[in-house]
Amino acid sequence: METKVGKEELLALGGELIREGFPVAFPTETVYGLGGDAYNEKAVEAIFNAKGRPQDNPLIVHISSPKELEGVAVDVPKAAYKLFEVFSPGPLTLVLKKSPLIPKRTTGGLDTVGVRIPDHPLALGLIKAAARPIAAPSANVSGRVSPTEASHVLEDMKGKIPLILDGGKTRVGIESTVLDLTKDIPVILRPGAVTAGMLAPVLGAVKVFSGEVVVAEAPGMKYKHYSPVCPCVGVNGPQTARAEYEKREGEGLNPVLVASDNLIEKSGIKNAISLGNSPEAAMANLFSALRKAEKKFGYILLEWFEGADYYPVQNRIKKATGGAVIR
Ligand code: TXA
Ligand code: MG
Repeated sequence: METKVGKEELLALGGELIREGFPVAFPTETVYGLGGDAYNEKAVEAIFNAKGRPQDNPLIVHISSPKELEGVAVDVPKAAYKLFEVFSPGPLTLVLKKSPLIPKRTTGGLDTVGVRIPDHPLALGLIKAAARPIAAPSANVSGRVSPTEASHVLEDMKGKIPLILDGGKTRVGIESTVLDLTKDIPVILRPGAVTAGMLAPVLGAVKVFSGEVVVAEAPGMKYKHYSPVCPCVGVNGPQTARAEYEKREGEGLNPVLVASDNLIEKSGIKNAISLGNSPEAAMANLFSALRKAEKKFGYILLEWFEGADYYPVQNRIKKATGGAVIR
């Protein structure tokens, strides 16, 4: 199938394709999503097929306003409306009790549903054009790094889907915070740009899911995510970066350092891709840097960032490196 790429001018076509049960990729403020009619099992199946995604990993349902929660979730607690008021549109997904209208195929067999209002005109435009909630995982092939540019989506989805809406580089760069509101005390299942520190004043109390995943709370957590196609290891500090770099260079592995400008400068390594110098920049640049690195290089040294502000980034780095950090 031909994969069209375009902008606003293709929103009406996008809406039509969604209504007909086809998957359409679209930008959000976090990463690109691969969307389909959340009510249509066939459409959802097409998304799972295009991604090669395990059937028990639920999709996030995207809506354009809190009013549309009706038809997606039931027994919605007041806290959900409060959170939407403060953080939406934005990178926060709420796990709520599922409406019977949402098929279990969409939620990976669960009685709960993840819902969010994305902060991007093309995402909101597509939901409005389709006139229904859009189920969408990240638009990467399962197991690959999430796409933050339309070209990344094209790499993974060319020939498999009819349309990619191109909104340029995504602003936030890592996936939304997933917050489970079905528990007595809300739990963050996946850290993101909306942090526990930001949620606590609104909720009173919030827990961060921390343990190793034995029984997966967010089914997605049990799958290794975001792995570059070449080996990727965490490095902490300029000396370790330099030593590891020289070792791998000596082995003929064509290594690259993906790190803050600070670490790049201090290590003196020339083969390097910058993540900027702040937690926001690291979030925004991480996935595109990994995609660039895996294309040109054979071994990735990824900076292991210290500090609470880097918590969401650390979570993705753990997934990319499988937790291997050289200190
Ligand atoms: O920023 C994002 O959230 C992006 C954009 C496209 O919106 N979407 C995204 O979707 O990252 P995906 O499918 O790659 O990740 C969804 C995560 C998975 O870890 C999944 O297990 C979890 O959210 N999730 C979804 N519904 C859930 C539910 N009902 N209960 C627990 N976890 C859920
Ligand atoms: Mg994903």
